[in-house]
Amino acid sequence: MIDLHCHLLPDWDDGPDTWEEVDRMIALAAEDGIEAICITPHYLRFSRHGNDPDTLRSKFEEFFERYKEEKRISFYRGAEVFIHPDIIKHIKMESLGLNGSEYVFVEFPSDQVPAGTKDLFYRMMLDGLTPVISHPERNTVFGGQPELLYDLVCRGCLAQVTAMSLTGEFGAVVYKRAELFLKNNLVQFIATDAHDSQKRKPVLSKAVKVAAALTGKEKAGAMVDDIPLAILNNEIIPDWGSPLRPDKARKKFFFKK
Ligand SMILES: [Fe+2]
Repeated sequence: MIDLHCHLLPDWDDGPDTWEEVDRMIALAAEDGIEAICITPHYLRFSRHGNDPDTLRSKFEEFFERYKEEKRISFYRGAEVFIHPDIIKHIKMESLGLNGSEYVFVEFPSDQVPAGTKDLFYRMMLDGLTPVISHPERNTVFGGQPELLYDLVCRGCLAQVTAMSLTGEFGAVVYKRAELFLKNNLVQFIATDAHDSQKRKPVLSKAVKVAAALTGKEKAGAMVDDIPLAILNNEIIPDWGSPLRPDKARKKFFFKK
């Protein structure tokens, strides 16, 4: 399995504090059957070092040096970039795509989808980038108006569902959104978004079982294998179904005559 979303750089964001914790996370991931991890530190949010690109670069260098003998898992460089009017400049200057590809994680505030998102994504695509929305099921606006996500995915962006959302570990509301998005082909792959070895672990297998029950074993497998692999290789992702417009989650009003 491939995990494209994992906070594994120590002392950079709200992920692990120490190398010992990184060791524990890697051990858990390997035990779960994860063979590749794209390391995705927060960028433009949660950084303890003011998003300093030189610090980020040296942390990645230290990571790759430290784990060059690691046989169980291969590591790739990525980022999770907070939505920002200047996002394209940062992505290009700091090469923030997943494994240097055109695919870039875009993180939203948990309670907003900024008004200019559609235009911003259009500009990103004109610049050769494909926005990948991090865990839309954890966003209250996408949750209440799934047609917004449908619209963005129809326009060419991708979206990632978090493993713990599918296992119900973020609660029933988030689970229901994850289920809806999965069944409507609005999310294309599953990732852990792990932050530590205790509460936000790098574990995919449990979510794959849930996804298999919802969408079939083959597609669930592709969501942690063929699809993330295509992204790492900067290829067009395999087609596992066109986005379906979700029923509007609106209240219906009945008027008495
Ligand atoms: Fe994340």
